[in-house]
Amino acid sequence: MHTEGGSIETVAVHGGERRPGPEGSAVFPIYQSTVYSMGPGTAYHDIPYIRLNSTPSQRYLHDKLAALEGAEAALATSSGMAAVTTTLLSTLRAGDHLLAGDSLYGGTHDFLTEHSEDLGWRYTFVDVNRPETWAAARTRQTKVFLVETITNPMVRVGLLDEIAAFGRREGLLTVIDNTFATPVNFRPLAAGFDLCFHSATKYLGGHSDLVAGCVMGSAGLVERVRRTLNHFGGSLDPHTGFLLARGVKTLALRVRAQNENALALARFLAGHPAVAAVHYPGLPSHPDHAHAAKLLSGFGGMLSLRLRGGEGAAEALLGAVQLAYPAVSLGGVETLITRPATSTHAGMRPENRERLGITSDLVRVSCGIEAQQDLIADFSQALAN
Ligand SMILES: Cc1ncc(COP(=O)(O)O)c(C=O)c1O
Repeated sequence: MHTEGGSIETVAVHGGERRPGPEGSAVFPIYQSTVYSMGPGTAYHDIPYIRLNSTPSQRYLHDKLAALEGAEAALATSSGMAAVTTTLLSTLRAGDHLLAGDSLYGGTHDFLTEHSEDLGWRYTFVDVNRPETWAAARTRQTKVFLVETITNPMVRVGLLDEIAAFGRREGLLTVIDNTFATPVNFRPLAAGFDLCFHSATKYLGGHSDLVAGCVMGSAGLVERVRRTLNHFGGSLDPHTGFLLARGVKTLALRVRAQNENALALARFLAGHPAVAAVHYPGLPSHPDHAHAAKLLSGFGGMLSLRLRGGEGAAEALLGAVQLAYPAVSLGGVETLITRPATSTHAGMRPENRERLGITSDLVRVSCGIEAQQDLIADFSQALAN
Protein backbone atom coordinates (compact mmCIF):
# COMPACT_ATOMS: atom_id res chain seq x y z
CA MET A 1 0.00 0.00 0.00
CA HIS A 2 1.46 3.39 -0.97
CA THR A 3 -0.09 6.08 1.16
CA GLU A 4 2.00 7.77 3.81
CA GLY A 5 2.91 11.39 3.28
CA GLY A 6 2.61 11.31 -0.52
CA SER A 7 1.12 14.08 -2.62
CA ILE A 8 -2.63 13.85 -3.12
CA GLU A 9 -2.20 13.01 -6.84
CA THR A 10 -0.10 9.95 -5.96
CA VAL A 11 -2.23 8.92 -2.99
CA ALA A 12 -5.39 9.12 -5.11
CA VAL A 13 -3.92 6.61 -7.56
CA HIS A 14 -1.94 4.31 -5.28
CA GLY A 15 -3.48 4.75 -1.82
CA GLY A 16 -5.09 1.56 -0.52
CA GLU A 17 -4.10 -0.46 -3.60
CA ARG A 18 -2.92 -4.03 -3.13
CA ARG A 19 0.41 -4.92 -4.75
CA PRO A 20 0.00 -7.34 -6.31
CA GLY A 21 -3.79 -7.36 -6.47
CA PRO A 22 -5.80 -10.58 -6.23
CA GLU A 23 -4.66 -12.99 -9.00
CA GLY A 24 -2.08 -10.39 -9.98
CA SER A 25 -4.71 -7.87 -11.06
CA ALA A 26 -3.60 -4.22 -11.23
CA VAL A 27 -7.20 -3.07 -10.70
CA PHE A 28 -8.93 -4.38 -7.60
CA PRO A 29 -11.84 -6.58 -8.76
CA ILE A 30 -15.47 -6.51 -7.66
CA TYR A 31 -16.12 -9.24 -5.10
CA GLN A 32 -19.83 -9.70 -5.54
CA SER A 33 -20.18 -12.59 -3.10
CA THR A 34 -22.34 -11.60 -0.14
CA VAL A 35 -21.05 -14.48 2.00
CA TYR A 36 -17.63 -16.00 2.72
CA SER A 37 -16.29 -18.99 4.55
CA MET A 38 -15.11 -18.07 8.02
CA GLY A 39 -13.40 -19.57 11.00
CA PRO A 40 -15.31 -20.76 14.08
CA GLY A 41 -16.00 -18.19 16.75
CA THR A 42 -15.95 -15.14 14.43
CA ALA A 43 -17.52 -12.17 16.23
CA TYR A 44 -20.70 -10.76 14.67
CA HIS A 45 -19.18 -7.53 13.32
CA ASP A 46 -16.24 -9.47 11.84
CA ILE A 47 -18.37 -11.83 9.76
CA PRO A 48 -17.56 -11.16 6.07
CA TYR A 49 -20.94 -10.00 4.72
CA ILE A 50 -21.73 -6.98 2.56
CA ARG A 51 -24.21 -5.42 4.99
CA LEU A 52 -21.57 -5.70 7.72
CA ASN A 53 -19.11 -3.69 5.60
CA SER A 54 -16.44 -6.32 5.91
CA THR A 55 -16.00 -7.95 2.47
CA PRO A 56 -12.82 -7.73 0.35
CA SER A 57 -14.08 -5.00 -2.05
CA GLN A 58 -15.30 -2.93 0.89
CA ARG A 59 -12.08 -3.32 2.86
CA TYR A 60 -10.08 -2.28 -0.20
CA LEU A 61 -12.29 0.80 -0.70
CA HIS A 62 -12.04 1.70 2.98
CA ASP A 63 -8.24 1.65 2.79
CA LYS A 64 -8.29 3.82 -0.31
CA LEU A 65 -10.66 6.38 1.24
CA ALA A 66 -8.66 6.44 4.48
CA ALA A 67 -5.45 7.14 2.54
CA LEU A 68 -7.17 9.95 0.66
CA GLU A 69 -7.99 11.88 3.85
CA GLY A 70 -4.82 10.78 5.67
CA ALA A 71 -7.04 8.92 8.17
CA GLU A 72 -6.44 5.78 10.19
CA ALA A 73 -9.70 4.33 8.93
CA ALA A 74 -12.65 4.97 6.63
CA LEU A 75 -16.10 3.58 6.04
CA ALA A 76 -18.14 3.71 2.84
CA THR A 77 -21.89 4.27 3.09
CA SER A 78 -24.81 3.95 0.69
CA SER A 79 -25.18 7.76 0.32
CA GLY A 80 -23.88 11.01 1.72
CA MET A 81 -26.96 11.22 3.92
CA ALA A 82 -26.20 7.74 5.28
CA ALA A 83 -22.76 9.09 6.21
CA VAL A 84 -24.25 12.15 7.97
CA THR A 85 -26.97 10.29 9.83
CA THR A 86 -24.86 7.28 10.83
CA THR A 87 -22.09 9.55 12.09
CA LEU A 88 -24.53 11.49 14.26
CA LEU A 89 -26.33 8.35 15.42
CA SER A 90 -22.95 7.00 16.53
CA THR A 91 -21.82 10.07 18.41
CA LEU A 92 -25.00 11.41 20.04
CA ARG A 93 -27.32 9.78 22.55
CA ALA A 94 -30.76 10.84 23.75
CA GLY A 95 -30.35 13.93 25.93
CA ASP A 96 -27.28 15.17 24.05
CA HIS A 97 -26.95 18.53 22.33
CA LEU A 98 -24.98 19.52 19.27
CA LEU A 99 -23.70 22.74 17.81
CA ALA A 100 -24.18 22.93 14.06
CA GLY A 101 -23.17 25.46 11.43
CA ASP A 102 -26.21 27.55 10.49
CA SER A 103 -25.82 27.00 6.77
CA LEU A 104 -25.79 23.23 6.45
CA TYR A 105 -26.66 21.27 3.31
CA GLY A 106 -30.48 21.20 3.06
CA GLY A 107 -30.73 17.44 3.67
CA THR A 108 -28.58 17.60 6.81
CA HIS A 109 -30.50 20.64 8.03
CA ASP A 110 -33.84 18.93 7.46
CA PHE A 111 -32.65 15.72 9.16
CA LEU A 112 -31.79 17.71 12.29
CA THR A 113 -34.92 19.82 12.32
CA GLU A 114 -37.29 16.93 11.56
CA HIS A 115 -35.78 14.03 13.52
CA SER A 116 -33.84 15.44 16.49
CA GLU A 117 -36.89 15.60 18.72
CA ASP A 118 -37.70 11.91 18.17
CA LEU A 119 -34.08 11.00 18.85
CA GLY A 120 -33.94 13.11 22.02
CA TRP A 121 -31.26 15.43 20.63
CA ARG A 122 -31.19 19.18 20.92
CA TYR A 123 -29.25 21.43 18.60
CA THR A 124 -28.23 25.05 18.24
CA PHE A 125 -27.27 26.54 14.89
CA VAL A 126 -24.27 28.84 15.18
CA ASP A 127 -22.49 31.23 12.85
CA VAL A 128 -19.22 29.49 11.98
CA ASN A 129 -17.55 32.87 11.54
CA ARG A 130 -18.48 34.27 14.96
CA PRO A 131 -16.43 32.37 17.57
CA GLU A 132 -17.58 34.77 20.28
CA THR A 133 -21.06 33.17 20.08
CA TRP A 134 -20.02 29.51 20.38
CA ALA A 135 -19.36 29.30 24.12
CA ALA A 136 -22.78 30.77 24.93
CA ALA A 137 -24.46 28.24 22.62
CA ARG A 138 -22.64 25.30 24.22
CA THR A 139 -24.46 23.49 27.04
CA ARG A 140 -23.25 20.83 29.47
CA GLN A 141 -24.91 18.25 27.21
CA THR A 142 -23.11 19.40 24.05
CA LYS A 143 -21.15 16.53 22.53
CA VAL A 144 -20.64 17.38 18.86
CA PHE A 145 -19.78 20.43 16.74
CA LEU A 146 -20.90 19.79 13.15
CA VAL A 147 -19.82 22.06 10.28
CA GLU A 148 -19.14 22.05 6.54
CA THR A 149 -15.84 23.15 5.00
CA ILE A 150 -17.48 25.27 2.31
CA THR A 151 -21.20 25.87 2.69
CA ASN A 152 -23.90 25.32 0.14
CA PRO A 153 -24.82 27.46 -1.80
CA MET A 154 -23.33 30.65 -0.31
CA VAL A 155 -19.83 29.08 -0.31
CA ARG A 156 -18.98 30.52 3.10
CA VAL A 157 -15.83 29.23 4.80
CA GLY A 158 -15.93 29.06 8.59
CA LEU A 159 -13.04 29.71 10.94
CA LEU A 160 -12.19 26.04 10.67
CA ASP A 161 -8.96 26.07 12.69
CA GLU A 162 -10.76 27.91 15.51
CA ILE A 163 -13.65 25.41 15.41
CA ALA A 164 -11.21 22.50 15.75
CA ALA A 165 -9.42 24.28 18.62
CA PHE A 166 -12.73 25.13 20.36
CA GLY A 167 -13.80 21.49 20.12
CA ARG A 168 -10.53 20.28 21.64
CA ARG A 169 -10.69 22.85 24.43
CA GLU A 170 -14.33 22.10 25.26
CA GLY A 171 -14.10 18.32 24.88
CA LEU A 172 -16.46 18.21 21.88
CA LEU A 173 -16.20 15.86 18.95
CA THR A 174 -15.66 17.98 15.84
CA VAL A 175 -17.28 16.62 12.70
CA ILE A 176 -16.95 18.18 9.27
CA ASP A 177 -18.61 17.61 5.91
CA ASN A 178 -15.71 17.98 3.47
CA THR A 179 -17.80 17.32 0.33
CA PHE A 180 -17.40 20.75 -1.27
CA ALA A 181 -13.68 21.15 -0.57
CA THR A 182 -12.46 17.55 -1.06
CA PRO A 183 -9.11 16.51 0.44
CA VAL A 184 -7.45 18.24 -2.52
CA ASN A 185 -8.42 21.63 -1.07
CA PHE A 186 -8.72 20.97 2.67
CA ARG A 187 -7.41 18.27 5.03
CA PRO A 188 -9.82 18.26 8.01
CA LEU A 189 -8.05 15.62 10.09
CA ALA A 190 -4.69 17.36 9.79
CA ALA A 191 -6.48 20.59 10.79
CA GLY A 192 -7.64 18.94 14.03
CA PHE A 193 -11.16 17.67 13.25
CA ASP A 194 -12.08 14.29 14.74
CA LEU A 195 -14.26 12.94 11.92
CA CYS A 196 -14.90 14.01 8.39
CA PHE A 197 -17.45 12.74 5.94
CA HIS A 198 -18.37 13.18 2.29
CA SER A 199 -21.19 12.81 -0.07
CA ALA A 200 -19.01 10.71 -2.38
CA THR A 201 -21.81 11.16 -4.92
CA LYS A 202 -20.11 14.48 -5.71
CA TYR A 203 -16.38 15.02 -6.27
CA LEU A 204 -15.02 11.69 -5.02
CA GLY A 205 -17.13 9.73 -7.53
CA GLY A 206 -16.84 12.69 -9.87
CA HIS A 207 -18.92 11.54 -12.84
CA SER A 208 -22.54 12.05 -11.71
CA ASP A 209 -23.16 8.32 -11.99
CA LEU A 210 -23.18 6.94 -8.45
CA VAL A 211 -24.59 7.63 -4.99
CA ALA A 212 -22.31 6.95 -2.02
CA GLY A 213 -20.88 8.47 1.12
CA CYS A 214 -17.93 7.92 3.40
CA VAL A 215 -16.68 8.70 6.89
CA MET A 216 -13.01 9.06 7.87
CA GLY A 217 -11.23 9.39 11.21
CA SER A 218 -9.45 7.45 13.92
CA ALA A 219 -9.76 3.66 13.88
CA GLY A 220 -11.79 3.73 17.11
CA LEU A 221 -14.32 6.33 15.95
CA VAL A 222 -14.76 4.81 12.50
CA GLU A 223 -15.31 1.38 14.05
CA ARG A 224 -18.03 2.91 16.23
CA VAL A 225 -19.68 4.34 13.10
CA ARG A 226 -19.29 1.00 11.25
CA ARG A 227 -21.11 -0.87 14.00
CA THR A 228 -23.96 1.62 13.85
CA LEU A 229 -24.06 1.30 10.07
CA ASN A 230 -24.09 -2.49 10.42
CA HIS A 231 -27.29 -2.16 12.45
CA PHE A 232 -28.98 0.53 10.38
CA GLY A 233 -28.08 -1.20 7.12
CA GLY A 234 -26.79 1.61 4.88
CA SER A 235 -23.83 -0.30 3.42
CA LEU A 236 -22.41 0.39 -0.04
CA ASP A 237 -22.66 -2.37 -2.61
CA PRO A 238 -19.41 -3.55 -4.27
CA HIS A 239 -20.38 -2.44 -7.80
CA THR A 240 -20.84 1.15 -6.70
CA GLY A 241 -17.73 0.88 -4.56
CA PHE A 242 -15.76 -0.12 -7.64
CA LEU A 243 -16.96 2.97 -9.52
CA LEU A 244 -16.13 5.13 -6.51
CA ALA A 245 -12.56 3.79 -6.23
CA ARG A 246 -12.12 4.38 -9.96
CA GLY A 247 -13.37 7.95 -9.62
CA VAL A 248 -11.08 8.65 -6.68
CA LYS A 249 -8.00 7.89 -8.81
CA THR A 250 -8.55 11.05 -10.88
CA LEU A 251 -9.85 13.23 -8.02
CA ALA A 252 -6.85 15.54 -7.81
CA LEU A 253 -6.73 16.19 -11.57
CA ARG A 254 -10.43 16.92 -11.74
CA VAL A 255 -10.61 19.14 -8.67
CA ARG A 256 -7.63 21.23 -9.73
CA ALA A 257 -9.30 21.83 -13.11
CA GLN A 258 -12.58 22.65 -11.34
CA ASN A 259 -10.82 25.10 -9.00
CA GLU A 260 -9.36 26.89 -12.03
CA ASN A 261 -12.61 26.92 -13.96
CA ALA A 262 -14.57 28.27 -11.00
CA LEU A 263 -12.07 31.06 -10.38
CA ALA A 264 -12.06 32.05 -14.06
CA LEU A 265 -15.87 31.93 -14.30
CA ALA A 266 -16.28 33.87 -11.03
CA ARG A 267 -13.96 36.62 -12.31
CA PHE A 268 -15.82 36.77 -15.62
CA LEU A 269 -19.23 36.94 -13.93
CA ALA A 270 -18.07 39.55 -11.40
CA GLY A 271 -17.23 41.86 -14.33
CA HIS A 272 -20.48 41.24 -16.24
CA PRO A 273 -23.07 44.07 -16.24
CA ALA A 274 -26.04 41.65 -15.91
CA VAL A 275 -24.65 40.14 -12.71
CA ALA A 276 -25.56 41.69 -9.35
CA ALA A 277 -23.35 39.51 -7.09
CA VAL A 278 -20.94 36.60 -7.32
CA HIS A 279 -20.20 34.38 -4.33
CA TYR A 280 -16.87 32.59 -4.59
CA PRO A 281 -14.27 32.39 -1.79
CA GLY A 282 -11.47 32.90 -4.32
CA LEU A 283 -12.65 36.44 -5.05
CA PRO A 284 -11.20 39.18 -2.79
CA SER A 285 -14.78 40.57 -2.48
CA HIS A 286 -15.92 37.38 -0.66
CA PRO A 287 -16.31 37.96 3.12
CA ASP A 288 -14.20 34.88 3.95
CA HIS A 289 -11.52 35.33 1.31
CA ALA A 290 -8.67 36.20 3.69
CA HIS A 291 -8.98 33.20 6.01
CA ALA A 292 -10.10 30.88 3.17
CA ALA A 293 -6.83 31.70 1.38
CA LYS A 294 -4.92 30.54 4.47
CA LEU A 295 -7.00 27.43 5.18
CA LEU A 296 -7.60 26.05 1.69
CA SER A 297 -5.22 24.92 -1.04
CA GLY A 298 -7.86 25.77 -3.64
CA PHE A 299 -11.21 27.55 -3.46
CA GLY A 300 -13.27 24.73 -4.95
CA GLY A 301 -15.46 24.29 -7.99
CA MET A 302 -18.69 25.79 -6.60
CA LEU A 303 -19.95 29.35 -6.95
CA SER A 304 -23.27 31.15 -6.80
CA LEU A 305 -24.57 34.36 -8.31
CA ARG A 306 -27.50 36.72 -8.48
CA LEU A 307 -28.57 38.57 -11.59
CA ARG A 308 -29.78 42.15 -11.82
CA GLY A 309 -32.92 40.88 -13.56
CA GLY A 310 -33.97 38.86 -10.47
CA GLU A 311 -35.77 35.53 -10.46
CA GLY A 312 -36.98 35.78 -14.08
CA ALA A 313 -33.46 36.41 -15.35
CA ALA A 314 -32.14 33.53 -13.20
CA GLU A 315 -34.67 31.14 -14.70
CA ALA A 316 -33.85 32.46 -18.19
CA LEU A 317 -30.14 31.80 -17.58
CA LEU A 318 -30.89 28.16 -16.74
CA GLY A 319 -32.77 27.88 -20.01
CA ALA A 320 -30.16 29.70 -22.10
CA VAL A 321 -26.94 27.89 -21.16
CA GLN A 322 -25.98 25.24 -23.69
CA LEU A 323 -22.92 23.63 -22.13
CA ALA A 324 -23.83 23.88 -18.44
CA TYR A 325 -26.51 21.33 -17.65
CA PRO A 326 -29.50 22.42 -15.56
CA ALA A 327 -29.58 19.81 -12.78
CA VAL A 328 -29.06 19.45 -9.05
CA SER A 329 -26.11 17.70 -7.46
CA LEU A 330 -22.55 18.77 -8.09
CA GLY A 331 -18.95 17.72 -8.38
CA GLY A 332 -19.16 15.88 -11.71
CA VAL A 333 -17.00 16.45 -14.77
CA GLU A 334 -19.82 18.40 -16.44
CA THR A 335 -20.81 21.89 -15.34
CA LEU A 336 -24.21 21.89 -13.60
CA ILE A 337 -26.45 24.86 -12.90
CA THR A 338 -29.45 25.09 -10.56
CA ARG A 339 -31.58 27.44 -8.48
CA PRO A 340 -31.20 26.25 -4.87
CA ALA A 341 -34.52 27.77 -3.70
CA THR A 342 -36.40 25.44 -6.05
CA SER A 343 -34.10 22.42 -5.81
CA THR A 344 -31.49 21.67 -3.13
CA HIS A 345 -33.06 23.95 -0.51
CA ALA A 346 -36.71 23.62 -1.51
CA GLY A 347 -37.40 21.67 1.71
CA MET A 348 -36.29 24.59 3.89
CA ARG A 349 -38.77 27.17 5.20
CA PRO A 350 -38.66 30.28 2.93
CA GLU A 351 -37.83 32.58 5.88
CA ASN A 352 -34.84 30.38 6.83
CA ARG A 353 -33.66 30.37 3.22
CA GLU A 354 -33.89 34.13 2.93
CA ARG A 355 -32.03 34.60 6.23
CA LEU A 356 -29.11 32.61 4.79
CA GLY A 357 -29.13 34.60 1.55
CA ILE A 358 -30.67 31.76 -0.48
CA THR A 359 -33.02 34.08 -2.32
CA SER A 360 -35.29 32.84 -5.10
CA ASP A 361 -33.07 34.52 -7.71
CA LEU A 362 -29.87 32.77 -6.54
CA VAL A 363 -28.18 30.54 -9.13
CA ARG A 364 -25.61 27.89 -8.16
CA VAL A 365 -22.96 26.61 -10.54
CA SER A 366 -20.90 23.44 -10.09
CA CYS A 367 -18.00 23.87 -12.48
CA GLY A 368 -16.91 20.86 -14.49
CA ILE A 369 -13.66 20.19 -16.30
CA GLU A 370 -14.56 21.70 -19.68
CA ALA A 371 -12.12 24.14 -21.32
CA GLN A 372 -12.24 27.45 -19.47
CA GLN A 373 -12.89 29.50 -22.61
CA ASP A 374 -15.83 27.26 -23.61
CA LEU A 375 -17.43 27.63 -20.21
CA ILE A 376 -17.05 31.39 -20.22
CA ALA A 377 -18.33 31.59 -23.80
CA ASP A 378 -21.42 29.63 -22.76
CA PHE A 379 -22.27 31.97 -19.87
CA SER A 380 -21.45 34.96 -22.06
CA GLN A 381 -23.94 33.93 -24.76
CA ALA A 382 -26.56 32.95 -22.17
CA LEU A 383 -26.32 36.31 -20.38
CA ALA A 384 -26.51 38.21 -23.68
CA ASN A 385 -30.00 36.79 -24.33
C1 LIG B 1 -22.54 19.05 1.28
C2 LIG B 1 -23.41 17.82 1.13
N1 LIG B 1 -23.44 16.92 2.11
C3 LIG B 1 -24.22 15.81 2.02
C4 LIG B 1 -25.02 15.59 0.92
C5 LIG B 1 -25.87 14.36 0.85
O1 LIG B 1 -25.33 13.47 -0.07
P1 LIG B 1 -26.15 12.34 -0.88
O2 LIG B 1 -27.03 13.04 -1.85
O3 LIG B 1 -25.06 11.53 -1.49
O4 LIG B 1 -26.94 11.56 0.13
C6 LIG B 1 -25.00 16.50 -0.13
C7 LIG B 1 -25.86 16.27 -1.33
O5 LIG B 1 -26.07 17.16 -2.12
C8 LIG B 1 -24.18 17.66 -0.03
O6 LIG B 1 -24.14 18.58 -1.00
